[in-house]
Amino acid sequence: MESKVKDKESLLRRLMEAGGEPVSGQMLADEAGVSRTAVWKWVRELEEDGFTVRSVRKKGYVLEASPDRLTPALIRKHLKDDPFVSEIIHFESVESTMPIAHREAQSGAPDGTVIVAEEQTAGRGRLARPWTSAAGKGIWMSIILKPDIPPHRAPQFTLIAAVSICRAIRELADVEARIKWPNDLLIGGRKVTGILTELQADPDRVQAIIIGTGINVNQEPEDFPEELADIATSIRMESGQPLDRAALAAAVLRNLGYYSRLYLEEGFAPIKFLWEENSDTIGRRVNAVMVRETVTGTAVGITEDGVLEIRTEDGSIRGIYSADIEPAE
Ligand code: BTN
Repeated sequence: MESKVKDKESLLRRLMEAGGEPVSGQMLADEAGVSRTAVWKWVRELEEDGFTVRSVRKKGYVLEASPDRLTPALIRKHLKDDPFVSEIIHFESVESTMPIAHREAQSGAPDGTVIVAEEQTAGRGRLARPWTSAAGKGIWMSIILKPDIPPHRAPQFTLIAAVSICRAIRELADVEARIKWPNDLLIGGRKVTGILTELQADPDRVQAIIIGTGINVNQEPEDFPEELADIATSIRMESGQPLDRAALAAAVLRNLGYYSRLYLEEGFAPIKFLWEENSDTIGRRVNAVMVRETVTGTAVGITEDGVLEIRTEDGSIRGIYSADIEPAE
């Protein structure tokens, strides 16, 4: 169904839906119940926002190019009718999308609310590490989920997110991202995505799960600080091609909706299977480096709780709850 035009945002959606065909200014004005000059003013505002709109004599307006941004309209264009996302809240620059998502979740934002920013000035990762989030180069977003599950099942959503992002990257770019336990995505051994899952819960029920993800999309080597030069990468650096960030954000959200549903309907088994299949850790000899000890052995699988199982030299299985994983000699 075509979007009904009533303001600048709906005009943009309508021009996008026209797929490059002209849309008559008079028709748009009649539909919105405004003058042609008012429609023309919306078009001018879209141009100020970075869109290129051509006016074709006697035919109407054509959307020729969209800016590289993560606005709700641009993400929704790729989401089409997917029902998972309820609202997208977009910011130019924030310290971090995580506290914003927590506040929104507490004040009643529904399941599927997305907070996304072009830039984060104080992005944070696991274990309170900083997360570099350069303007316009990646996807910095937090997704609010409100599944009806007990708190001990919440960590499984980190694995659902990892599988979803992995598949979204493969759908859109000619590169293969793999999952490094617990929740990093790597391409060619370097980190391309991090996932940070936080929880609001009562003792027996989840109130909200906030999935924060940082995806390095269009950085060039010089966009990373020196200390990340050997360990971080971007999809563009690996594929040699820039990627439409809004299209990738939509693919991530579509996959996350799909795999969350699958998990709620069929349980953890299909997610475990996909996680292990896409894992860079399973089957390898690794060192699990923890504060007090390092466990060396072959990673053989994950448990229902996302615990990594390592078979050590003596044949026993050790469950690893939290550690940095590095390749073993
Ligand atoms: C990690 O690998 O340590 C997790 C990184 C998570 C980064 C994302 S970017 C969007 C959201 N906002 C943040 O401040 N952090 C997460």
